[in-house]
Amino acid sequence: MPSNVILKEVGPRDGLQNESSIVSTEKKIAWIDKLVDAGLKYIEVTSFVSPKWIPALADADDVFRYLKRKQGVTYAALVPNARGLERALRADVDEVGIFISASDTHNRRNVNKSIEETLPVLKEVVRTAKEQGKTARGYLSTVFGCPYEGRVPVSQIEKISHELLEMGIDELSLGDTIGVANPKQVKQIVRQLKVTIPTGRMALHLHNTRGLALANIVAGLEENIQIFDGAAGGLGGCPYAQGATGNVATEDVQYLMQSLGIETGVDLKKLVEAAQFIAPHIGTDLPSYQLRLTDEE
Ligand code: HMG
Ligand code: MG
Repeated sequence: MPSNVILKEVGPRDGLQNESSIVSTEKKIAWIDKLVDAGLKYIEVTSFVSPKWIPALADADDVFRYLKRKQGVTYAALVPNARGLERALRADVDEVGIFISASDTHNRRNVNKSIEETLPVLKEVVRTAKEQGKTARGYLSTVFGCPYEGRVPVSQIEKISHELLEMGIDELSLGDTIGVANPKQVKQIVRQLKVTIPTGRMALHLHNTRGLALANIVAGLEENIQIFDGAAGGLGGCPYAQGATGNVATEDVQYLMQSLGIETGVDLKKLVEAAQFIAPHIGTDLPSYQLRLTDEE
């Protein structure tokens, strides 16, 4: 297992995109500051997607405008197309996150295009982003199962992963969009991919729909994965994937790493406080174990 890992916080984006309650721009920024204060060095701040598709993140431009950035922290955002990139560049994002699904049906539901139609759009986004000195992260969704098509062949996962890497993405984040992965499958897929892709360039982005995310992270660690996405409080879910619920809670991942003696540079107590800060602004109870423990004390 690695001795250090990087936790990437996607709560302000993945965590909020599916929520019906709209969190104010001011609260989002205050929450991001708390997450940074907890020691997280990577925050996915928002998405420059269509506000008609994702109303909860319609204030993306303003979040970036009023955010006070701390040196050494990467403030990233999702971008689906050229229009999104234009907005992201105007906001001077540090990193652009592109996304595509391994299964065609989910991709069509998510961005209204087939995989084949999406690839050239993303290629152009990455090319321009790189020209402008930005780094790029590529998300591959439904890697471990699709709500419409079930299991996706590993050959398809490999093929699209390589297309993304050839476009110039710096990192590939493998998404368990609907939380159906199991540790054996995580190992199989990562083992297959790491034959041609260095583990240092792969991340796991796990949703905890069925409670297996932490077990899947351990499987990833055993295959030498060193980057894990999480959302404070266990918020999250893709609105265009039926049954998709929260990301694994960042504070639960932090607890796991601490227990295993793996360094992250993150302060668990402050992370829990950041989750407690956002919790009252979300309509429902948050599923994080660490948050529940603290509430019971
Ligand atoms: P479309 O309707 O096919 O797009 O949507 P369009 O090009 O025909 O444009 C329609 C309207 O949207 C136009 O405005 C455009 O200007 C506008 P109108 O003329 O009607 O007034 N528009 C935009 N406005 C602002 N920013 C933009 C933008 N693009 C177009 N960037 C589109 C296509 C891709 C835009 C839409 O499908 C979309 O926004 N989808 C985003 C869906 C999404 O955000 N899903 C969740 C993120 S992915 C995820 O959660 C998975 C992940 O977490 C990993 C995992 O868990 O697996 C990453
Ligand atoms: Mg996600």
